[in-house]
Amino acid sequence: MDKIVALCKRRGFIFPSSEIYGGIGGFWDYGPLGVELKRNVREAWWQDMVLRHDDTTPPPGMPSAYAMVGIETSIIMHPQVWKASGHYDLFHDMLVDCRHCKARFRADQLASSQCPEKPSKRPGEHTTCDLTPPREFNLMFKTYVGALVDPESEAYLRPETAQGMFVNFRNVLATARVKLPFGIAQIGKSFRNEITPRYFTYRSREFEQMEIEFFCRPEESRAWYEYWRDRRLRWYVSLGLRSDRVRLREHSPEELSHYSCGTADIEYAFPFLPEGEFGELEGIAHRGDFDLRSHMEGKLVRQGGELVVERGPDGKPVHPGSGKDLTYFDEETGERIVPHVIEPSAGVDRSVLAFLCEAYDEDVIPDEKGVPQPRVVLRLHPRLAPVKAAVLPLIRKEGMPEVALELYRELKRSWNVDYDDKGSIGRRYRRQDECGTPYCFTVDGQTLSDGTVTVRDRDTTRQERIRMVDVPGFLRERLGG
Ligand code: GAP
Repeated sequence: MDKIVALCKRRGFIFPSSEIYGGIGGFWDYGPLGVELKRNVREAWWQDMVLRHDDTTPPPGMPSAYAMVGIETSIIMHPQVWKASGHYDLFHDMLVDCRHCKARFRADQLASSQCPEKPSKRPGEHTTCDLTPPREFNLMFKTYVGALVDPESEAYLRPETAQGMFVNFRNVLATARVKLPFGIAQIGKSFRNEITPRYFTYRSREFEQMEIEFFCRPEESRAWYEYWRDRRLRWYVSLGLRSDRVRLREHSPEELSHYSCGTADIEYAFPFLPEGEFGELEGIAHRGDFDLRSHMEGKLVRQGGELVVERGPDGKPVHPGSGKDLTYFDEETGERIVPHVIEPSAGVDRSVLAFLCEAYDEDVIPDEKGVPQPRVVLRLHPRLAPVKAAVLPLIRKEGMPEVALELYRELKRSWNVDYDDKGSIGRRYRRQDECGTPYCFTVDGQTLSDGTVTVRDRDTTRQERIRMVDVPGFLRERLGG
């Protein structure tokens, strides 16, 4: 993991936020390569889940075709959204403070935490440790809307993008002419005041989510849950996560949230975790009708197996919903129903981290004189690679730079392409390997006479000659459009 963090810093993938001021825990900046990688992850998700999705044919084994539409909702929403959804009361971790050293720990992570006092021990193990009993700590960041700092103007940075989709259910129904089943997709920033941000970007305080709320008929919801669970796993594998490091784990009944009829996590064996342990990449939850009902009726609680509105001593809802009708009228059956929801909820930053961890490799390859040279190579899937190709003139004279620049400018119209004429050709290849560039095109003496270039493959390091006019087609075929 240290090597990956160092590479991210050295090559401009990820930097600590506000680094010149010493950084700020749980916040990260993406550099020139990181921002392209992240864009490619978002783009792959949006293309595969929303745009390229076939909405005219039922997927194999499923009863109906479905539509997917996108949305982008605000980060700060009406505070009642978080009260009705349950986040205001329940979105917390238990924390433990040390009265002596003032350090703060997550109660469920005491065994894996370290007391800041030397020699390093676990919290509570020094004679001076003075731990408080566990206390609730709400993870939502609070802010104030408008000029007055008073309870009336309190608002929250969203801790998930999901609620923006539920509260727009009516708007989407009314405008997109969608019928059940259909999905709403959103990518955007979320914020959680994590007690112990850690493992590089894995647990951050500001991060990005890619979420789908898939609305369906209750009787079909179990089948759609299984469909989404399996489809989302295949997506990660299709983009290069090896199947022995990525796995699907169904939650046991005790682990399920109070509203969930089924949840599975897609997990990855991140290198910072102890051998054999996996960390969550994405959760796929069967949420029943919990969310739409909460926003109609008010905050729900489970009572004797039933979800009911939580009421105060006066009989009124503790946190009222909107009172708006979020039901669906089924024209075929003439029924009004509250659709059930399947929610595949992924993290952009965690996906980026998993793809980086999976791609990182070290090997030894011969340089142009045949001398073995160690190299670091990022074997990123071509769709995710921040730079798709590099154009390299073998030497900086004899007309090669002019031809190389012409090819570079042409490719740049379609892809993020690099031009590099500095240093030995072997060094230039290794520089590209380190940032995951799948192909290098080298313009040499032969190019000037027969119009061919060498193309070098990052993973195999094999080289072949192709016609310069065929380079765009070569790339298009391998980069998937
Ligand atoms: N709407 C459901 C929801 O938000 P979640 O399991 O809390 O579910 C979904 O979050 C995904 O968001 C996680 O699987 C993870 O990829 C990402 N995520 C959650 N908290 C995160 C954090 N503190 N830092 C980075 N990513 C996080």
